[in-house]
Amino acid sequence: MLVLGIESSCDETAAALVRDGREVLSNVVASQVATHRAFGGVVPELASREHLRNIGYVVRQALREGGCTLGEVDGIAVTQGPGLIGSLLVGVSYAKAMAWASGKPLVPVHHVEGHIFSAFIENPGIEYPLLALTVSGGHTSMIHAPRPGEYEIIGRTRDDAAGEALDKIAKFLGLGYPGGPVIDRLARDGDPRRFPFSIPKISDGRLDFSFSGFKTAALRHIAEAGIRPVRPGAPAPRVVLDLVASYQRAIVDTLIGQVKKAEARLMPRSLLLVGGVACNSLLRESFRKTFESRERPVRVYIPSPAYTTDNAAMIAAAATPRFGRSPALDLALNASASLPLGG
Ligand code: KG4
Ligand code: ZN
Repeated sequence: MLVLGIESSCDETAAALVRDGREVLSNVVASQVATHRAFGGVVPELASREHLRNIGYVVRQALREGGCTLGEVDGIAVTQGPGLIGSLLVGVSYAKAMAWASGKPLVPVHHVEGHIFSAFIENPGIEYPLLALTVSGGHTSMIHAPRPGEYEIIGRTRDDAAGEALDKIAKFLGLGYPGGPVIDRLARDGDPRRFPFSIPKISDGRLDFSFSGFKTAALRHIAEAGIRPVRPGAPAPRVVLDLVASYQRAIVDTLIGQVKKAEARLMPRSLLLVGGVACNSLLRESFRKTFESRERPVRVYIPSPAYTTDNAAMIAAAATPRFGRSPALDLALNASASLPLGG
């Protein structure tokens, strides 16, 4: 089963060729970071235009690098949502047109299900039930999947996504965009105990997350310590290294704390850490350390960085088991900015 995946939900135009859901023949990602950097965040209208400019080239490149023609592909998979509507429309329209012109089946994929399947590419034997922590610039949620294709959201952020919380403070400190990778790097030289952050208590029994309190506390620490934004190209002073290390530590601790509670409640066989923030070195290390040392055996899966940030290989992998079931092209298929998972 050879699947061409297409992803355009946010600011990455991506296409990939994947055989049997695990053998990645090509994985092309055109990043728009340079376009949005000047604004310190994704500008939806600019993102749609960049997708339009890039999609043809990216898909052709994925076919070329994979050494295949469209005729050799068994099916096409595309991210239907959630995401920025203008961005999603580019991928969905392109995929529908390709499927119609070539007579290939088209399977729509939920972006978060794609992130979950990113772990299956390198580990096809992942066992259910599974619990996935999905952390990115747009999402922060915990998904429980008792069996394939069945998803239950057992916790989600009540305000910012984890990546967004990192990006916003990095922007405020003049550290560049996207801020997550910069904070990851700078925090290695900082003292994570210097600035206190109290972990919010969510008392209604849900396993939700909240990061806005950390952001407010960080802004207070910045004001009280008289921290000024770092000038472009200048080295970050010690106080900034300590602040971002403390802030990152608080975010990682809150993520791990909620997964611990969910893991104890649901006792999954597999634990997945996926999404762009799963690139974070402290989160990867803490996640492994916390859950691999358990007495009860639970297997931990964290994809390689190329599959944690937005990509189309994960979309192709998620669609692969579904081709047998929905082969006909549904011309009414449309993008959905707020597509529910499993709906
Ligand atoms: O999954 P993704 O590529 O796009 C969305 O679906 O949002 O995730 C992007 C997010 C950004 O917020 C970025 O700052 C964050 O992932 N990120 C990181 C790291 N690499 C990317 N956050 C922390 N540490 C990293 N190393
Ligand atoms: Zn994503």
